[in-house]
Amino acid sequence: MIVYFNDEFMEKDKVCISPDDRGFLFADGLYEVIRSYKGYLFQAKEHLDRLSYGATHLKLGRTDFSELEEIARELLSRNGLESENATIYFQVTRGVAKRSHAFPTPAPALTVYAAASKFDPAAADRKRENGISAITIADTRWARCDMKTTALTANILANQAAVENDAQEAIFIRDGVMLEGTHSNFMAVFDDVLVTAPLSNYILGGITRNFILGLCRRENIKVEERPIFEKDIHMASEMMIVGTTTEITPIVRMNHTLFRAGKPGPVARALQAAYQREIDHLASLK
Ligand code: PDD
Repeated sequence: MIVYFNDEFMEKDKVCISPDDRGFLFADGLYEVIRSYKGYLFQAKEHLDRLSYGATHLKLGRTDFSELEEIARELLSRNGLESENATIYFQVTRGVAKRSHAFPTPAPALTVYAAASKFDPAAADRKRENGISAITIADTRWARCDMKTTALTANILANQAAVENDAQEAIFIRDGVMLEGTHSNFMAVFDDVLVTAPLSNYILGGITRNFILGLCRRENIKVEERPIFEKDIHMASEMMIVGTTTEITPIVRMNHTLFRAGKPGPVARALQAAYQREIDHLASLK
């Protein structure tokens, strides 16, 4: 497998990351994941813009990551993935320096790593088709969830709790509000209106979330960005998670209780169809 590491393409097992890398020492870094549909990089600019946003707020000293789009293409090509479904992960850290909390001076070069892997859609397709189980969990994350940092301890613990409860995703709750999943945004339908948490420092501004809100406008599905209170969720007619790897996946069981008799709902189905149509269309233009 050929990966990208600090300006070079190389075999993955040749990559050598220093134990003094601030990503390793402090999780002082960011990541992104872009989906490739048969060589079409979905929302690549939006993902790289979000990386710039995070880099600005982390004061990484670099904000232009646009070259990573070309690097993603090169990774697909070097790994024979141009006509496959794939994901490309990018990891960017503040670099290698003697351990000290404050930013090192002079600033070291950022560590930049990227790798493409084949995405086998079968398992994801099954979840999209049949829906998943989710649990709710107290949000123990910090107050800058709008940055996609590699510091994912709370997300890992929450997702593990989901797995231990025979579920696939955990929905974070803060002050009674259902915010988002451990690796997805959360949406619910109330009276035919698709509702999702407004953008804030407590959720990641999901690229898929934003794309779906755009789709809704075109499909005449009403949308509201407002808090979803856990106490009101029994009034929802549908729940779903959305994200780069999950796309639109209905939730059919919450906290061990079957929801909608375990069947995905019509809004999720309409969005899945519109999403697929739009991706096919965009991919045909590439
Ligand atoms: N996760 N919220 C969180 C906490 C996430 O980690 C993600 C994405 C999302 C959805 O964002 P987007 O639509 O831009 O993928 C929301 C990726 C897929 C991951 O961790 O692999």
